[in-house]
Amino acid sequence: MILVAPSLLAADYGRLHQQINMVENAGADWLHFDIMDGHFVPNLSYGADMVRQMRTNSSLFFDVHLMVEEPLNFLPMFEHCGADQITVHYEACSDLPAVISYLRQRHIKVGISVKPQTSEEVLQPFLHDIDNVLIMTVEPGFGGQQFMPDMLPKIKRTAQMIAEHKITLEVDGGINPQTAELCFENGADVFVAGNAIFKAQNPAEIIRQLHQLGEK
Ligand code: DX5
Ligand code: ZN
Repeated sequence: MILVAPSLLAADYGRLHQQINMVENAGADWLHFDIMDGHFVPNLSYGADMVRQMRTNSSLFFDVHLMVEEPLNFLPMFEHCGADQITVHYEACSDLPAVISYLRQRHIKVGISVKPQTSEEVLQPFLHDIDNVLIMTVEPGFGGQQFMPDMLPKIKRTAQMIAEHKITLEVDGGINPQTAELCFENGADVFVAGNAIFKAQNPAEIIRQLHQLGEK
């Protein structure tokens, strides 16, 4: 099943509630929140309060992507914000098992993300304990970048590696209906899209096209 996860990073922040209602009505499955700390990535975005305030407005699955150094230090702030899933970066964690067990104890789904230069092999020891793998298809930190086609073989290898597990395979960065199709052919099933959805003339049509990949 294909899941579409609009990334709020590209939304109009002056009209956030309407923008969320719009993608929800258009059939989005997840809502993707990009949390950036200015250290792990060279950019800042927003924090847990923003996620919490949006929770009152939406019943979408809240997919929080933490691009922060040592996320364990931030998890107390995020555990009550209404996140359904929190994805941390492999590269940012000195104690990944501690992060996983913190989230598990609180019944929050767990994702691990890898940057483009990090091998998917590092995820192997954690596969029995996580819900989501997020393969970055750009360097994390900014929306609106070009999809890296070099990531396609990595997506394929990851899909093979997780095949025996109940894990979603999410891709993020430069995703639009064309690049999503390539990712889908290689085994991805969750598509994060910021600019492709929120900056489109007709966002609902883009969401529809992304869902349609699964019906071809
Ligand atoms: C980038 C973020 C993405 C970003 C994607 O570091 O993780 O979620 O919002 O934006 P687009 O889809 O515009 O590349
Ligand atoms: Zn993201």
